[in-house]
Amino acid sequence: MNLVSKTQNTFVLTTPLYYVNDVPHIGSAYTTIAADAIARFQRLLGKEVLLITGTDEHGQKIERSAASLGKHPQEFCDGIVPSFLDLWKLLDIQYDRFSRTTAPRHHEIVKEFFQRVWEKGDIYQGQQQGWYCVSCEEFKEERDLLPDKYCPIHTSKQVEWRDEQNYFFALSKYQSQLEEFYQSHPDFIQPVSRRNEVLNFVHQGLQDFSISRVNLDWGFPVPVDSQHTLYVWFDALLGYVTALLEADAEANLANALPKWWPINLHLIGKDILRFHAVYWPAMLMSAGLPLPEKVFGHGFLTKNGQKMGKTLGNTLDPISLVQSYGSDAVRYYFLKEIEFGKDGDFNESRFINVLNADLANDLGNLLNRTLNMVKKYCAGKVPSLTASVISGDNPLKTIGLNLGEKVARCYTDLAFNEVCQQTLSLVQASNKFIDEQAPWTLYKQGKQQEVEAVLYTVLESVRLAAYLLSPIIPKISSDIYQQLGWEIDFNDQKVSSIIASFNIHSQWGILSDQQQLGSPKPIFKRIEITK
Ligand code: MSP
Repeated sequence: MNLVSKTQNTFVLTTPLYYVNDVPHIGSAYTTIAADAIARFQRLLGKEVLLITGTDEHGQKIERSAASLGKHPQEFCDGIVPSFLDLWKLLDIQYDRFSRTTAPRHHEIVKEFFQRVWEKGDIYQGQQQGWYCVSCEEFKEERDLLPDKYCPIHTSKQVEWRDEQNYFFALSKYQSQLEEFYQSHPDFIQPVSRRNEVLNFVHQGLQDFSISRVNLDWGFPVPVDSQHTLYVWFDALLGYVTALLEADAEANLANALPKWWPINLHLIGKDILRFHAVYWPAMLMSAGLPLPEKVFGHGFLTKNGQKMGKTLGNTLDPISLVQSYGSDAVRYYFLKEIEFGKDGDFNESRFINVLNADLANDLGNLLNRTLNMVKKYCAGKVPSLTASVISGDNPLKTIGLNLGEKVARCYTDLAFNEVCQQTLSLVQASNKFIDEQAPWTLYKQGKQQEVEAVLYTVLESVRLAAYLLSPIIPKISSDIYQQLGWEIDFNDQKVSSIIASFNIHSQWGILSDQQQLGSPKPIFKRIEITK
C-alpha cells in the first residue's frame, strides 16, 4: 500500500499538542505564534498549508488535575479546551486543524499504528523500574535529578518511583538506523545545538522505553491487553497523524497520509526534543512510514532565569497581555526580542520600550508623517514615478531591492528576530533619509521632482516593510496597506490578492500612482507607562 504521495506545493507544520492540565500560558502561546507566522509566510509563497495544533488530553497528569477538582477527566478536558481556542482567536492564529487526543477517530488511528508496530515485533512485555515525573510524563535518569529527587524541568515537583510490568517499544533496535538518518539529513534537528544534544544522547546508547502504564485509567487501552493503558506520549504523537484526516473521512492511515505526509516541520520546545527527534522517528521507522523533514526545538520563556510554566506558577497571562497591548504587539515582541532557539527572559518595561520604539515610532510615525507630506506637497496622490527612475544609489532602493529575498531566507530558517531586524533597517533608513533630504525644504525651494522622489521611495519602503512583517503583525500590516490604497486584510485568508503574492509584493518598487491613498491614521498607539 502506498501511503504517501505528497507534492512539493504543500507545507504541513505542527505545534505540540498541549496538555490541558490548565488553561494555556504564554509558553504555549509562544510556539503557536511562531508556527502561525511560518504558516502565513508559506501561504504568501503560494503553498497549500496545513497548520496543526491541538491538545494532549490523556495520562496521569490530566487524570490527577481532573481528580483534584472532583471531575471526570473528559468533562475536565472539555472545560479547558475552549480556553485554547479562545486564546488562538485572540492572537489571530490561523490554524487549519485542531487535534484532540480524546477524539474517537484518534483512537482508530492509534490502534492501527500500534498494530503495525506490534506486527513488526517491536513491542514486548518487561519490568519498568525508575523515577517518573508526572508533570513531564517521562521517566528520568537518576543522574539528571535535582537534590531530593526534584525534576530538573518542573523544579517544584518530586519524581515518583515506579516498579511495574509494562509493554516496551524496542527503541534500541533503531539505534544505527537513527544515527544514519541524522547523518544523511543534517537539517532534521535544529538549531545545531539541539542536534548535537540529540546526537550525544543517541550515541550513549538507546534504551527501550515503556509504552504502557498500569494503575492508570485515563487513556486508550493497549490494543493487545486491556489491563494496560497506552503511555500518553505514544498516543499523543499520533495526534499529528489524526489531524491530517479530512472531517468526513473514515479514520485510517490510508485516508490520513497520502496528501500531507510527511510533516515538513514539527515546532516544539526544547524539553520535548527527545520525543520528537528520537522516539517518534523510531516509531515511524517501525511502522514503515517516512520521517518528518524537520524538528525545531525552541528555547524557554523564562522569568528570572526560570522556565515559565503552570507547574511553577510564574507565568504571564497571555490574555491580559493581549487585552492590554493588542495581538500584534505580543506577536512582535516575542518573535523580535528572542532569538528563536534560545531562551529569553520577559521584562515588561523592555516589552513596552521595544513596541514604542519599533512599532509606534519607527514604523508608525514614518507612515504618518510621510502620508501627511504627500497630502501637503503632492495633493495626496502617490507621485507618478516608477522604481526605474529612482537613482541606483538611493539608499532605500539599495536596501529594498534585495530585502524580500533576504527576509524570505530568514523566515525559511525560522530566524524571526532577523526578519524583524532586517525589515526595521529599511524603516530606520527611511526615517534617516527623510531627515537628511528634508522634503519640506526642497518643497520651499520649488524642487517638486525631488520632493516626489523622496516621498515615493519612503512610501514604497513602508509598504515593503509592512508586507514582509505581515506574517508577524498582520493587523498593523493591513492598516498600512489600507492607508496605501489596497483593500487587503492579511487576517482574511480568503482574499485571493494576498495568497501567493510574495513574488510581486516582496519586490521594492511596485507602488503606483493608481493607488488611492487613505487618510493618515496612527497604526500603533504609543504605550504610556502608568506606574
Ligand atoms: N503534551 C506535550 C506535547 C505532546 S506533542 C505530541 C507537552 N505539552 S505542554 O503543554 O507541557 O508543552 C507544550 C509546549 O509548550 C512544549 O513545546 C513546551 O516546550 C512549551 N512550553 C511550555 N512552557 C514554556 C516556556 N516557558 N517557554 C517556551 N515554551 C514552553 O509537552
